[in-house]
Amino acid sequence: MKSIEKAVEALKQSKYIVAFTGAGISAESGIAPFRGENGIWNKYEEKLFEINYFTQHTKEAWSMLCDGFYEAMFKAKPNAAHIVLAKLEKEGYIKAIITQNIDDLHEKAGSKIVYKLHGNASQLHCNNDGNNYPVADFDLTTAPRCKVCNAVLKPDFVFFGEMLPEYDMNMSIKAVSKCDIVIIIGSTGVVYPAASLPYYAKRNNAVIIEINPKPSAFTNEIADIFIPMKAGEAMQKLIDILYIL
Ligand code: APR
Repeated sequence: MKSIEKAVEALKQSKYIVAFTGAGISAESGIAPFRGENGIWNKYEEKLFEINYFTQHTKEAWSMLCDGFYEAMFKAKPNAAHIVLAKLEKEGYIKAIITQNIDDLHEKAGSKIVYKLHGNASQLHCNNDGNNYPVADFDLTTAPRCKVCNAVLKPDFVFFGEMLPEYDMNMSIKAVSKCDIVIIIGSTGVVYPAASLPYYAKRNNAVIIEINPKPSAFTNEIADIFIPMKAGEAMQKLIDILYIL
């Protein structure tokens, strides 16, 4: 039986499915992943995403963020993979999405329960007085400044060296402790603590389904069903078969 059919069989028996998504799910929406060909890390050094570098070289960091990320994010729309996950949540299959992504495409596709381990890029935060602003309020040609204290604002996503949001991490641990299936979509599985979550689920005897055109760190370690396809194509095929059976 092909891996897709096996995955659909598992989904039909499941009671509590969690999706764990990485940058690869947004590749078909035009947002470059971090690793692999055309990965952001081929063009920029990871240090630009470190919190110390950001605070000491805010101007350079902001121009990289605009060029390397925000431009693509503003144009990006949810693709079939985001849309199918939102449908599967509506129909009671998916109970939560745990994402490493900061592009808000899951919410834009209609998903309601989304735990964002690495924050989001649509809000800007003032580390000085705590004010938050939607990024849409600013034209990012210059580093955006707080409207109250004029300090340079920081994107509300987790830089290397920062703590992950406690609420989202705790809720994600609860979700993977209860689930009977994790669908991992588009992640290399190399960044912790996020990447530890599918392993928690595996230890709780969940079935691990992985969708990725290439093997990842999860594939040989914990994946029970590996679907070597792009996210949009695989999720569309999966729901088409689910409806037929
Ligand atoms: N469909 C599915 N998977 C895809 C697609 C696609 N169309 N295109 C690429 N991929 C896969 C790649 O094979 C790779 O395994 O998506 C993965 C992208 O890997 P990364 O860029 O490392 O993304 P991710 O695992 O989410 O990175 C985790 O690293 O830099 C940090 O904070 C950043 O959240 C990010 C974290």
